[in-house]
Amino acid sequence: MVKSLTVIVVNDNSERLQKVMAACGVASRRKCEEIILAGRVKVNGVTVKELGTKVTPKDCIEVDNKLLAKESLVYYVLHKPTGYITAVSDKLGRRIVMDLLPIELKKNFRVFPIGRLDYDTSGVLLITNDGDLSYRLTKSAKEIEKKYQVRVDGILTQQAVNQLMRGIILDGVITKRAKVEVLSMDKQNHSTLMTLTITEGRNRQVRRMCEAVGFPVKKLKRLSFGGVTLDGLAVGEFRQLKPHEIKVLYSL
Ligand code: URA
Repeated sequence: MVKSLTVIVVNDNSERLQKVMAACGVASRRKCEEIILAGRVKVNGVTVKELGTKVTPKDCIEVDNKLLAKESLVYYVLHKPTGYITAVSDKLGRRIVMDLLPIELKKNFRVFPIGRLDYDTSGVLLITNDGDLSYRLTKSAKEIEKKYQVRVDGILTQQAVNQLMRGIILDGVITKRAKVEVLSMDKQNHSTLMTLTITEGRNRQVRRMCEAVGFPVKKLKRLSFGGVTLDGLAVGEFRQLKPHEIKVLYSL
């Protein structure tokens, strides 16, 4: 007898039907394949018997005419180390941020990172199985504050600070207003430490902005995302978000 369950919501990633069923706890993936072949599964009201069928979180899946149950939503912040790619899998076998999460968590919840940090960037990375929240936080119209600690090569000039704050043209589009706070200048090592707060999430945005004003990034760490901070987490550690943090993220 198959339990009543619903589908997990994960961004726009389509996945094989049997994989989703297995993740929802219907049965093992092999057994789920048998269930599909037996014609016991409907996707959006239509019986499917093909094992290659792909489904997205928006699809309505029924097994023996029972809707798959939604898994409970979980929210974490990971202190991403450098040297990991922000992905849930990697064909080239490189280290991925998911390697840092316990197997039990990944077995029970289809968690994934919200947005991305470069391989060489460390800091705040939100992890969840809440596709709705992820969508809200990553759609370009939303202005979610992300604060970075940046060490750049060179002694930053006031002119460069002004440019960073006012906006830099990247791919023909000016970046939105940013906040800059210079923390220290190291004349000996010829570098400047600052915080840069931006409200967009364009590809390699901080690195490209700094490069554009003539101060390449040496080290980059995200200090906060939508108000969520590392809160004492050591590199590679993660913690569950507090209810008020989740509430704030939903209110942004
Ligand atoms: N900006 C970058 O350039 N890299 C990141 O990882 C995040 C923001």
